[in-house]
Amino acid sequence: MSLTVIRSAEGLRRALAPHRDAGKLIGLVPTMGALHDGHLSLVHRASRDCGIVVASLFVNPTQFGENEDFDAYPRDESRDLSLFDEYGVDFVYAPSVDEMYPDGFKITITVQGVTEGLCGAARPGHFDGVTTVVSKLFADCKPDAAYFGQKDYQQMKVIERMVSDLDLNIRIVGLPVVRERDGLALSSRNAYLSAAHRRVAPSMFGTMRAVAERLHSGIDLDAQSEWGQSALLDAGFDRVDYFEVRDAATMEKPREFGPGMRIFAAAWLGQTRLIDNISADFEPE
Ligand code: PAJ
Repeated sequence: MSLTVIRSAEGLRRALAPHRDAGKLIGLVPTMGALHDGHLSLVHRASRDCGIVVASLFVNPTQFGENEDFDAYPRDESRDLSLFDEYGVDFVYAPSVDEMYPDGFKITITVQGVTEGLCGAARPGHFDGVTTVVSKLFADCKPDAAYFGQKDYQQMKVIERMVSDLDLNIRIVGLPVVRERDGLALSSRNAYLSAAHRRVAPSMFGTMRAVAERLHSGIDLDAQSEWGQSALLDAGFDRVDYFEVRDAATMEKPREFGPGMRIFAAAWLGQTRLIDNISADFEPE
């Protein structure tokens, strides 16, 4: 089947109905475009699991803060469409802002608890924008499964909570962070980095790994977050939003180090904000 681009919620519902009636599983991959191998790993897995793969392509204004990069966010629809086509996507849902948020649109979906701290604290309102747009995508597509990257681990946990609390009955599949060879997590925002900043960027991964090793060697949890922050600044990051260890299942702050934890970081290189996280279960070599 070749790729079909759909611009309206009604069009999406009509296109998917016969496939759902025919008993095919529908997999949804939500994206904001500017595709890279991280996005494509989600598409790849969705097409292994599901008979029909839908990808959404929508730079969602409501999840950007006032001084954030909504206008500058990289957009190249024709490149994205050919990549989706190449990777076997059946339908791309690429609505306009007016289609997604028509006049009179009034609802906001807020998840509490797991949105507190980390990106929730650094970007007020961000997760409300994410959960509101993702619930619309879920309502329009009614997927059996939806695919999210652990790159945005807190986002994935927020969506899991939403699906569970609203009984949406959608399987949320979380997939590992895809990285450059030097450890930098792939991100659409990496395109903003100057050559000098690009050289500094992999030290975020390096610092998280160093902290994982230090935790395994018994160094105190609280001291680690401070050590991680200073290490990022020493490496050349301009500002650190957070460097924290959290329980990977509950996202709560642990009192002491143990299995099942992740290390989370967000920091700035000039105007570019990078985020990443790794499992602290990582076994030092
Ligand atoms: P976007 O940043 O385009 O990311 C789309 C999906 O790709 C997310 O699930 C994200 O976690 C995943 N992803 C990004 N970089 C990745 C990497 N290096 N490895 C693995 N997966 C990666 O996240 C969003 O868009 C938006 O918030 C969205 C969910 C579409 C709602 O607007």
